[in-house]
Formats: sequence, C-alpha cells, structure tokens
Amino acid sequence: MTTTETAPLAGSPADGDVPILEALHVTKHFPARGSLFKRGPRRVVHAADDVSIALRAGRIMALVGESGSGKSTFARLLAQLHPVTSGEIRYRGKPVRVKGGRSLRAHVSKVQLILQDPFGSFNPVATIARTLMRAVRIHHPKATAAEQRRIIDDLLGQVSLRPARQFTEKYPHELSGGQLQRISIARALAANPDVFLADEPVSSLDVSIRLGVLNLLRRLVEERGVALLYVTHDIASARYFAEDTSVMYAGQLVEAGPSETVTQNAAHPYTQLLIASAPDPSRADDARPRDIGQPPSLIDPPSGCRFHPRCPFAMERCRTDAPPAFALEDGQWAKCWLYDGDDEAAARRVENAAAYGLGAVRPAGRRLPTDAPATTDTKGDQQ
Ligand SMILES: Nc1ncnc2c1ncn2[C@@H]1O[C@H](COP(=O)(O)OP(=O)(O)OP(=O)(O)O)[C@@H](O)[C@H]1O
Ligand code: SF4
Ligand SMILES: [Mg+2]
Repeated sequence: MTTTETAPLAGSPADGDVPILEALHVTKHFPARGSLFKRGPRRVVHAADDVSIALRAGRIMALVGESGSGKSTFARLLAQLHPVTSGEIRYRGKPVRVKGGRSLRAHVSKVQLILQDPFGSFNPVATIARTLMRAVRIHHPKATAAEQRRIIDDLLGQVSLRPARQFTEKYPHELSGGQLQRISIARALAANPDVFLADEPVSSLDVSIRLGVLNLLRRLVEERGVALLYVTHDIASARYFAEDTSVMYAGQLVEAGPSETVTQNAAHPYTQLLIASAPDPSRADDARPRDIGQPPSLIDPPSGCRFHPRCPFAMERCRTDAPPAFALEDGQWAKCWLYDGDDEAAARRVENAAAYGLGAVRPAGRRLPTDAPATTDTKGDQQ
C-alpha cells in the first residue's frame, strides 16, 4: 500500500471532478435523553460516526439502512439542519460553515431536503399557489408578480402537474400523496438547487405511484444535472434507481460501491442480510439466513465491528477491533474483517459464500488506511 493511496469515497466515478456536496469524517453525537441532568460521564447517541460521502452532478447515491441507523440524521447534517460534532461538510470543495441567518439560507437554497411525508410539510390552510408563491418570492425576489406566477406554472410543469391552474387553487388535503410530493419537489426546485436530499421520498406513497415520483426525480437529475441522495430502507429500489449505493449500519457506513455490485454481489454480511430479508417471491425456498435480528443501542454501541453480535461470520478480532475499509473489485468496498488476507478470514469467506449460495468465494480485499475518508467515492480504488 502506498502512502498516497486513499480509501474510496462512497459513490462516484473516477473522473476527477469536484463533488457538489461532500461529507468528510462526519460525526454527530446527540446528548442521550435525560443525560444532561445526571452525574457521571455524559451519555451520547452515536447517530453518525465518521461518515464520508461524495455527491456528484447528475448522479444518484442511495443511502440504505434499517430504521434508526442514522440515515435521516446524516441527510440533515448535509442540509446543515444539525451542526456536526466533528468532521466537515464541503460544498463544491469548500468547507461549509453555516451560522444561521444568511449563510444558512444560502446553503438551504443550494441543498434542498425532500421529506417522506408531503402532507406534514405543507400548511393545511394555504392554497398550493400561496405555498409556492412564498418559495418563489424568497428565491426570485426581483421578479414581478406576473413573472412569479409564470415561475409557479413552470415549476408545476416541471413536475408534470399540468395544467397548473388545476392545482394552484387547491388545498393540500384536496390532493393525493403523489401529487403533493410532486408539489414539494416543485417547491424545492424554486430555489434552483444543485443537490436534492430525498429522505424516503416515496415510502409514504401508494406502491402504484412510487415509480412515477422516482422517475420524476431521475429525470430532474438527468436534465438539470443535480446530485441526489436517495435515503431508503428499500435496498431493492437502490439497484434500479441509483448509480451508487452506501449502506449504513448503527451510525456508520459499512459498504459502498456501484449499486449493481452492492445489490447483486453484496460483500458485507449486514448488506447480505438486508438483501436476503427483503421480500422476493422468486427466492421463496432458498436457505439464506433471514433472521435480521435487532439493531444495537447507539448510546452504547458494540465494540469492534458494531455488527458482530448479529453476524454469523464473526471472528475474535471482530469483537475488539473496528474493521478498516477493504477495497474490493469494481469500486466496491466493505468495512469487514472477512476481506483480510489471513487464513481464518479466507475460511470464513468460504462459509459466507456457502451460506448465501454465492457462485465463487471472494478474494481478500486491499486494506485501506483508516484515516482516509471511506466514502462512496470509488475514485480512491482506481489507483
Ligand atoms: N434530535 C435528536 N436527539 C437525540 N437523538 C436523536 C435525534 N435525532 C435522531 N436521534 C437518534 O439518532 C439515531 C438515528 O436516527 P435517524 O432518525 O437518523 O435514523 P434513520 O436511519 O433515519 O431511521 P428511520 O429509517 O426510522 O427513519 C436514533 O437512535 C435516533 O433516536
Ligand atoms: S467485521 Fe466481523 S462481525 Fe463485522 S461483519 Fe465482518 S465478519 Fe461480521
Ligand atoms: Mg429516517
């Protein structure tokens, strides 16, 4: 390993361009409930620990993990709605230091959060026109009233709600969840953002309309060149929707790489369990492990690898030492001791391949330095 080698940043091509939005070694610890008034060491919730990610123009990064793994917290850190405990957020290569007021507004206009529940994000007593006009006035203060109305019509057209007048005079309760989610996307577009952070954008919608909203987001990414972080529980949707996938477990990224590789050839036992436990009628009879168990406490997370209490392949070192990132093939990496170069790890990889019916036993990976950001940027892997 050379000293210039860097761990791969979760999710992006080796084209040398600067990511639009980046998190580098970002950690967020919340005070644990009740701990502020107790004696003794302050207890914290480890909602995000040393997470690095790079979001690039025209690409979608899926952030996958079960409930409570820290996905929303991480999206909110990127949006600067929480201050980071440590680490850095960079916008177009420059550190973002938001102190409220104008700097927060500037960041928010470039980095827009889209939430799971569209009903909760609208004023129930304001018409759609009024809600959108508010956003348009903030981001286009110099436009005349007629221009602002044209901007609203155009925004609704961009989210395929036409003719606009069919929607502008309605109240949120008069629209379906899918229509309202489209309007929340239109409202986000008013700011002309570079980045969308979509936190479970379709999980509250009927299954029948989810695809339409995802297709809309995909079209906006392609046509406008925005970067999109797609937060989801649903690892299967990551495969067809996102170029890159990062997997989060108990506040840490554990695996990342191109979505096709991560979903079809998962390396980390947690990702493998997530995939095996996802509903798939075509695999009804297979014998893969499905009991996904319970996530650990984030106040007192397990030592070593945080997944070790649930991992069928855990070794002694997993209980004591946090695994570094191991670079695998095709820009994929995993933080897992299975990919170490010794005989015990090799034997466990054989067991792992047998348990999941993998065609071939994977080779060991290339150990990456722990101080470099393990993100979804597959760039580091190409050296
Ligand atoms: N403001 C807060 N104060 C204290 N703890 C918090 C706060 N926000 C989140 N947490 C904790 O951080 C952890 C991660 O929560 P988060 O909502 O980010 O998970 P998630 O992956 O988005 O879960 P879900 O899939 O259910 O939305 C949880 O233990 C949660 O209770
Ligand atoms: S590091 Fe060990 S415990 Fe953690 S996922 Fe890998 S094999 Fe399992
Ligand atoms: Mg969440």
